[in-house]
Amino acid sequence: MNRTPGPIGIFDSGYGGLTILHGIRQLLPEYDYIYLGDNARAPYGSRSFEVVYQFTRQAVLKLFERGCHLVILGCNTASAKALRSIQERVLPEIGSDRRVLGIIRPTVEVLGDLTQSRHVGVLATEGTIRSNSYSLEVAKFHPDIKVSGVACPLWAAIVEANEADSPGADYFVKKRIDQLLRKDPLIDTIILGCTHYPLLMNSIVRHVPPGVRIVPQGQYVAESLNSYLQRHNEIDRLCTKGGTCQYLTTESEDKFRESAQIFLHESVNVKHVDLD
Ligand code: DGL
Repeated sequence: MNRTPGPIGIFDSGYGGLTILHGIRQLLPEYDYIYLGDNARAPYGSRSFEVVYQFTRQAVLKLFERGCHLVILGCNTASAKALRSIQERVLPEIGSDRRVLGIIRPTVEVLGDLTQSRHVGVLATEGTIRSNSYSLEVAKFHPDIKVSGVACPLWAAIVEANEADSPGADYFVKKRIDQLLRKDPLIDTIILGCTHYPLLMNSIVRHVPPGVRIVPQGQYVAESLNSYLQRHNEIDRLCTKGGTCQYLTTESEDKFRESAQIFLHESVNVKHVDLD
């Protein structure tokens, strides 16, 4: 068993997980991180369970190969469709010193404190909505909360194409928010259940009525990771603390560098990797 400490891995289909990485680095800047974006195969949102599982498995194995002991699936679609299978099928073969965590539960856990009306909306990819993961988790933690979800098929693709601030993006953002609020007008809290969506925030805030809270996940995932590392000293010891961040993409390095700079407001050191 390899017990050489390494960075924390963060994986997403593309740029969305950068919003999770950002939240985590704000709270836990002392750790080392490797971010992996499967930009060449994004978006994952409309892909089948089997394909999302296979792609996520390849990404997690790549991050393990790069020395990570702890990997966060900074992607709701992968958390909804692949996390359980990875934990049950992949980890037992790899060794007990590796962990993979998702981001749906940390978001759901805090919901009870955020909603007054107990009516919550979820905007997410088709895959996440179809999996019913949010409704099932909310039913476990807060059975009194009613959840309504709407799939936003084009939103992640708009972000990947770097069109987040275009009039076209605004049209599709309004369309889905209106659809959600028509479904349940008592909603007072909207979870952005796809890590790409905070990158559309300029447009989202224009169309969400005052008094309705918009919940991006970065901060809550970061708080949950912090508490996990405090409770699991054996894993914390396997995470190096040098304050660095490396980036891997399955697409071109130049394309990733350019887009990531827009989202993160800093230049990034990125390397191309192949996953298959
Ligand atoms: N960012 C991802 C999520 O949180 C996936 C978006 C996509 O690839 O469709 O669901």
